[in-house]
Amino acid sequence: MLSKDRSTFVCSSCGYESPRWLGRCPGCGEWNTLVEDVETRGTGNPTSGGRPPVSISSVDASPEDRLPTGSPEFDRVLGGGIVPGSLVLVGGDPGIGKSTLLLQVSIRAAAGGRVLYVTGEESATQVRMRADRLGLPARPSPALPPDLFVMADTDITRIEAQISETDPVLVVVDSIQTVFDPGLSSAPGSVAQVRQCAAAFLRLSKERGIPVFLIGHVTKGGDIAGPRVLEHVVDTVLYFEGERYQAYRILRAVKNRFGSTNEIGIFEMRGDGLKDVANPSGVFLEERSRDGIGSVVAPCVEGTRPLLVEVQALVTPAVFGVARRTAIGVDHNRVCLIAAVLEKRAGLNLASQDIYVKVAGGLEAVEPAADLAVAVAVASSLRNRPVPGDAVMMGEVGLGGEVRAAGKAGLRVSEAVRLGFRRIVLPAGDLPSIEDVASLEKHGAVLAGARTVAEALDAAGL
Ligand code: TYD
Ligand code: MG
Repeated sequence: MLSKDRSTFVCSSCGYESPRWLGRCPGCGEWNTLVEDVETRGTGNPTSGGRPPVSISSVDASPEDRLPTGSPEFDRVLGGGIVPGSLVLVGGDPGIGKSTLLLQVSIRAAAGGRVLYVTGEESATQVRMRADRLGLPARPSPALPPDLFVMADTDITRIEAQISETDPVLVVVDSIQTVFDPGLSSAPGSVAQVRQCAAAFLRLSKERGIPVFLIGHVTKGGDIAGPRVLEHVVDTVLYFEGERYQAYRILRAVKNRFGSTNEIGIFEMRGDGLKDVANPSGVFLEERSRDGIGSVVAPCVEGTRPLLVEVQALVTPAVFGVARRTAIGVDHNRVCLIAAVLEKRAGLNLASQDIYVKVAGGLEAVEPAADLAVAVAVASSLRNRPVPGDAVMMGEVGLGGEVRAAGKAGLRVSEAVRLGFRRIVLPAGDLPSIEDVASLEKHGAVLAGARTVAEALDAAGL
């Protein structure tokens, strides 16, 4: 079945293709990740096999009946539940909780039909032991649904046969890197195997209308293909992220044919499985430092959801000649730029100071709207003066020291007020877009429009 047309070299980490072997991948900059990939004929588009064209007006346009995952957080990331016939890739570092997440989804889905959980990573016993750990409803007993079938196999032909026989409502493959096609000579986990098997699952999901979740480990080094080589094959790509040693996990959509890619879902890893975090702003602010020096809350927006994060800064005299800037959770260049603006436009003396900026809780603040919080946190630490505990700061900082509109200001302000913040410093340009100022003021909120960083520092009492 393998016809050697021509070979290409594929980066097993990012999927970059090259006609020649290269030591360093031009796509992602990794070394020794390019491996030979033999193209097989006829795997181009497995969904188009031999169907005649139809008039667009006769195509069924009714919205798909989505299957809820039982987790509102997961449903939101998928765009409102699982779409029948969709192929979803869930990537993430080993140990982050991918198997746990999808086992929970499988258990819930099995209440409504047969679910096939294919495991090549663990034995059926290990899957059972994990399932026993999860906080399951006591009723109906037995707690584990009889319609959840665990298949400890990695041969794609046997898995395909089992899917035909079981006719499940959901298939989970844990992981795609362990599944292999015996017709290919390359080793399981190689780019060719991983792509071939993913194409087989794509065909299965489309032909039979069964949603299939593929788990893919993010890998280091070139021996095993990473999930990125599959991103263009599947309908939806989700990444499960977080600090391994912290409890919070973020599920992020980076590609979604059935929804927005900005959405995130937040979970907490507990002793009895992953739990939805319904009020993330409150959770991430729980452990804020008490004195408020160098700590500022920024109202960010991820997709449609507002998320309040704590930006921390520590400014200390530089010991070695050149002052250092270190950033975690914010872009390093942004911190350098904001420090330069503070120096030049607000008269802060930062040239001989090391600056450390961090977003608490392992979160990231990528939005420009978080600039002002970074600037105010740095100024607060430099001057050793606290920022009021009930203040939030939002706005993009320009090179001229101007505070530019943040967008979605109403959403940010109402989330901040909902969580008890009262001093809202926002770009002056965003003030007119706040509609319910009167009701916000009734809650005791004070909205201060800032045109420049210097004005924002005044408003923060620095
Ligand atoms: P796992 O789902 O196996 O991760 P992945 O499939 O992404 O490799 O989760 C691994 C970690 O989660 C492991 O260190 C144990 C921990 N864990 C809990 O803390 N609580 C639980 O209920 C479960 C099932 C796992
Ligand atoms: Mg796993």
